[in-house]
Amino acid sequence: MAGKGFTVNKNWDNPVEYPMPEGVRVPAELRIGNGPNPILVTPATVLAPMAGVTDTGFRRFIRHASTFTAEAAVASDEQAVAEVDATITNQQSGCGLLMTEFTSADGLSRMRESKRKRYLTFYDDEHPIGAQLFGSNAETLADAARIVEGTGFDTVDLNLGCPAKRVVGCNGGSGLLRDLPKIAEIFRTVRKAVTIPFTVKFRLGWNDSQIICVELARIAESEGLNALALHARTREQGYSGQARWEWIAAVKDAVKIPVIGNGDIRTPEDAAAMVARTHCDAVMIGRAAPANPWIFRQIAQYTATGRYELPTAQDRYHLIRAYFKMLLDDAAASQSLPRDARHGETAGKMKQFATWFTHGVPGGAKLRAAIYQARKGAEVLEQVDHFFQAQLTNPSDEPIEELTFPEDTLVCD
Ligand SMILES: Cc1cc2nc3c(=O)[nH]c(=O)nc-3n(C[C@H](O)[C@H](O)[C@H](O)COP(=O)(O)O)c2cc1C
Repeated sequence: MAGKGFTVNKNWDNPVEYPMPEGVRVPAELRIGNGPNPILVTPATVLAPMAGVTDTGFRRFIRHASTFTAEAAVASDEQAVAEVDATITNQQSGCGLLMTEFTSADGLSRMRESKRKRYLTFYDDEHPIGAQLFGSNAETLADAARIVEGTGFDTVDLNLGCPAKRVVGCNGGSGLLRDLPKIAEIFRTVRKAVTIPFTVKFRLGWNDSQIICVELARIAESEGLNALALHARTREQGYSGQARWEWIAAVKDAVKIPVIGNGDIRTPEDAAAMVARTHCDAVMIGRAAPANPWIFRQIAQYTATGRYELPTAQDRYHLIRAYFKMLLDDAAASQSLPRDARHGETAGKMKQFATWFTHGVPGGAKLRAAIYQARKGAEVLEQVDHFFQAQLTNPSDEPIEELTFPEDTLVCD
């Protein structure tokens, strides 16, 4: 593992082409939790927790971008569309469950109420939503889980995958993968503390000689957890190499509680292929969401009709403009930070999103360069308007770049 952050062997750029499984699609529903009121995740798709990305603004943006209506479907099969429409329209989104960024349990228990509110902010239209915690002390995690439950989240999730040194350094995240008895103690203590569904997101193990995901899954089930999400890489892999879906299948074989598969889903075909190959109960998508915010809608279309729409340049313009406008409005409305800090933070978020999103835009490098020059959010929006208006009146024939991730965008998982 060299230098700052994790080296990425750009497998993201050389995706594996999975043979298209006949008839296998992402399930229409996932139930998390026992008893009379399980959390219904419809469809069975999850926005992965991403620190620095999946805050309330981005989560609502994705839920909005995923809205699916009958007209949008490449309607070739009325019956299939009607079925999907009946399923989706109620929930108005192709993204079944939203996850927060990870939050430190230690930090949460020490935080003043006002700051806690900021970290755990969510809106009614974000349900069902899960809050993710990290830490290594069972009692502190139990306290933090009670705060999450008291705040109204639908599920509480434990992070056992973050590879970042500062988290592993305090034995949190993937650092705990080397201590199964400790994990069992945490599971037991948090399970006793809350009644909402309790889930865990983890990796295969610390490294190739310590792959413990099947054992961990069995412990989680025996301690009363309600679902598992597996990012099928070891801590040592970071984001390099391919996600090893065969381990998702192995975990699925080992337990009865729902298993959510995660790692390298870039397209609706990948999502269906993961279900076909692993029999997982749901799919979780991370990096493809900011790069292609329509991914959840496309999965819903693909599930219904075997086809899906690709966004036009106009669609891309409208979407980036809508999101940036939302960020600016939120910044103007919020009082949580001094004005300049708010503007700085907003411009930072816009630039980060542009890093991912513009990779799908012809001439995206030019847009990125212009956006990086901008100091304030309003200037970023000006650059976007300027670029797309030129683009729409005189379409560029520049090739669409492959998606690459600058190392410092990868903080934790
Ligand atoms: C910028 C970034 C931040 C992340 N933060 C978290 C996090 O807070 N908690 C977590 O469990 N995983 C985190 N992850 C990992 C993702 O949730 C996901 O497991 C990983 O990206 C693999 O899925 P993908 O191939 O669909 O991106 C993060 C990933 C990225 C790229």
